[in-house]
Amino acid sequence: MIKMTGNINQNISGLNRGEDHQYTQVQCKTCHRGQANPFMIEQVMDEAISDGGTMAAQAKYNELKEQYYGGHTYDFTGFTLAEYANSLSNDNIDNALSMAQFGVENYPGEPYAHTILGNVYLKLGKPADAIKAYQASLAIDPEQGGVKSQLEAAKKAME
Ligand code: HEC
Repeated sequence: MIKMTGNINQNISGLNRGEDHQYTQVQCKTCHRGQANPFMIEQVMDEAISDGGTMAAQAKYNELKEQYYGGHTYDFTGFTLAEYANSLSNDNIDNALSMAQFGVENYPGEPYAHTILGNVYLKLGKPADAIKAYQASLAIDPEQGGVKSQLEAAKKAME
């Protein structure tokens, strides 16, 4: 690890980005963030889902948030949770729905959480639910052109 970190820093300083450039130094904690094996929250949830489904993943998320919130060991932003739900939607739409709902429950003030829930509903052929979710997203932040077009698409799907 010490050698690897040294190699990384050598490679970085070898980027030759000019004399004035201030290089970032990679440190142990850049990766480790207080963990022996530096997992990201997404990986932890993948593991929990394959062991016990989305309920297990949500229990794990809550447990970790209780323990680590406020530090940089895990990313507990609503945006990242929404991105995670979104990443599940190709492989398993039910898991995506469960995680997107969990995202909205935990981060009702995060517009992206509602947007992703809307996208999942639209994929599931539930445009009425998608419309509600997009409207909730736009109520928080009206200046989202992409969400406005998604809302129009959901309304079209109702016709
Ligand atoms: C570029 C990212 C990165 C940096 C920088 C880094 N590590 Fe690691 N470290 C890892 C990863 C990833 C693993 C887990 C490897 C695995 O999956 O077995 C790990 C594993 C370890 C482990 C084994 C933990 C265990 O119990 O299994 C130790 C000890 C460790 N690192 C110490 C250090 C120290 C000390 C430094 C600083 C000199 C450092 N690491 C810097 C990424 C990094």
